Amino acid sequence: MSEPRSDAFVFFGATGDLAYKQIFPALQAMIRHGHLDMPIIGVGRSSWDNDRFIARARDSIEKHATLDRGAFEKLASRLQYVIGDCRDEQTYQHLREALGNAEQPLYYLALPPEIFGVVVDGLSKSGSAKNARVMVEKPFGSDLASAQALNESLMKSFSPSAVFRVDHYLGKEPVQNLLYFRFANALVEPVWNRHYVASVQVTMAESFGVQGRGGMYEGVGAIRDVVQNHLLQVVSLLATDAPADGHPDAMRDAKLRVFEAMQPISVDETVRGQFSGYRDEPGVAPDSQVETFVALRLHIENERWAGVPFYIRAGKQLPVTGTEIMVKLKSPSHAVFDTAAPGQSNYFRFRISPEVLISVGARVKVPGEVMAGETVELVAHRHPGDEMAPYERLFGDAILGDASLFARYDSIEAAWRTVAPILGNTVPIRYYESSSWGPEESEQLISRDGGWHAPVAKDANEGNAG
Ligand code: BG6
Repeated sequence: MSEPRSDAFVFFGATGDLAYKQIFPALQAMIRHGHLDMPIIGVGRSSWDNDRFIARARDSIEKHATLDRGAFEKLASRLQYVIGDCRDEQTYQHLREALGNAEQPLYYLALPPEIFGVVVDGLSKSGSAKNARVMVEKPFGSDLASAQALNESLMKSFSPSAVFRVDHYLGKEPVQNLLYFRFANALVEPVWNRHYVASVQVTMAESFGVQGRGGMYEGVGAIRDVVQNHLLQVVSLLATDAPADGHPDAMRDAKLRVFEAMQPISVDETVRGQFSGYRDEPGVAPDSQVETFVALRLHIENERWAGVPFYIRAGKQLPVTGTEIMVKLKSPSHAVFDTAAPGQSNYFRFRISPEVLISVGARVKVPGEVMAGETVELVAHRHPGDEMAPYERLFGDAILGDASLFARYDSIEAAWRTVAPILGNTVPIRYYESSSWGPEESEQLISRDGGWHAPVAKDANEGNAG
């Protein structure tokens, strides 16, 4: 039996940064594709009227997408703004009125994690949670205990199938492509294990800082902001066995087994960094110990991956913006010709942000008399076209009640267990200069496995195609 469609879309945090960068563009795209024929209500604290709210939507789309006049007019005609503080009961009364006849609204909480519980209670007490769905942004909680408490509070008001835990990396086209590439090509599976793979590394680099969101970032830091969620989810997709079939829960069951095999990350295998200048950002404590950079080694103890190190590195104010995965294969066991340094002959490189790229590193002979070679890349590269942005995909799925691309609670709990030892200030902070690759200790962490692979700057892949 198909799930009923939501009949109103409500987003909290309507005046915030996430709404400005991602939500309004996604809403216009949904209207353009005929996927959003319902009231759209934004809830925020600023004392705006509807016109100001619509002007903000236009501004957001002009800045972060392309304005489509027809679609924007439709969007504007459906937008309503409700002023209110999430802690104030009246906000929920006003929201109820704005919802009119809607019976199955979808609520999206684009809010800092510590407020999720307050909103869930407010919706529940005002009778607005009945038959509704709720989408909760990451990070889901700020550690295992708070995730458990949040989940309990959600379960009091919503059924398990009505809760959608957002991790927008799961909605990214290149991340879906990664999974597709793994399971649609017979050449991958035979080598995708400890017998052939030497090491795996994932780098999420951003060339910008906290962009005025210092106050929010202080409560999070890189481990909670992107490692516990986006990057461990990516690792789970890289490492999972094939699901039994295409059913969403089969995939999520398979991924859970990887999360359960992840060992708690050791303090000795983690480097935390902070870029110089972070403490001068508005909202940041002058003695802040919050990390804007992290590098770590992760172990997955199962038959497929025992002994293969998985490296994760994420940071702000790094030299480029790009997220790339490098799966390095071992050298041929019997070397007939010259080979590259271990791990440099054959590899798979996946670029998952901002655009899709999959490449295979292979040795080929250089012209001449001697049987000597070089490593070249065979590259499949696609520029982002009119493909769905992650939030458009995720909102559309949640409206239809399809949870395939949302993080399941059991994997979120397992991810909190994995990062638990390195939360707080158990690992000392090292400083790094903006536009560098982070503290020196991060290089030492991976030196025995051939060093970090640096994601290329956007469009630099053009020249690489082999
Ligand atoms: C968000 C983080 O989840 O992901 C941000 O909170 C980060 O700090 C962003 O900048 C990156 O997303 P994307 O899609 O641009 O790679």
